[in-house]
Amino acid sequence: MEITPSILTADFCQLGNTLDEAIDAGINWIHMDVMDGNWVVNRTITFGPAIIRSVRDRLGPDVFIDCHLMINNAEETWEQYADAGVNLIIAHIEAVQDFSQFITTVRQANVQVGCVLNPDTPASDVLSLIPELDLLLVMSVVPGKGGQSFMPEMEDKVRYFREIIDKQIQSGGRPTKLMIDGGIKSHNAAKVAEWGIDIAVVGSGLINNQGSIKYNLNLIYEALNNQF
Ligand code: DX5
Ligand code: ZN
Repeated sequence: MEITPSILTADFCQLGNTLDEAIDAGINWIHMDVMDGNWVVNRTITFGPAIIRSVRDRLGPDVFIDCHLMINNAEETWEQYADAGVNLIIAHIEAVQDFSQFITTVRQANVQVGCVLNPDTPASDVLSLIPELDLLLVMSVVPGKGGQSFMPEMEDKVRYFREIIDKQIQSGGRPTKLMIDGGIKSHNAAKVAEWGIDIAVVGSGLINNQGSIKYNLNLIYEALNNQF
């Protein structure tokens, strides 16, 4: 299972150094959480395309960057994130009116496209989209902030998606990636890997006051290695 840091708990004055530290530790995928002060229930504002552009410039072209859009009107603004240099745009099924159209439009710009669903959104709401998606993201917290508790009840949803995606790949379909986001730490990383997650977003479990990113990442890798 691949690990990608969410930078929400970083000291933004130190962001460049934090990113360098992550890359040094072997990370090659960064997850950028965009909130517009409207869409998430707690009305948080994080950052927008300008910061993402700086991150892209700092990291160069080889690091994969996704942006998780927790915003209204993603249909109207996604291009700003593409222009800022993201590889993959992930939008919420609950926030986009015509998601099939959204996929077509984003893909035409040569940017990968993902769909994310909230903990209380049923799996059935995204089923028909999976064959067209580069990535499907299951939220394991209610979006809005870092450092929340993991929701273990997402297990059935994740296992169900794993089965569907495996069948899709076996029959020659798109190799849609399965990601999880929220509350992942060294104590539950092995569990979600066993559920069949390809990529786990880790925020406060990596960027915190307890240890360096390298140290925290090693704790997670050790947990994953001890799994078998
Ligand atoms: C939640 C965000 C996350 C999250 C991750 O709204 O999408 O990416 O902050 O942080 P942790 O790992 O601390 O839950
Ligand atoms: Zn996120």
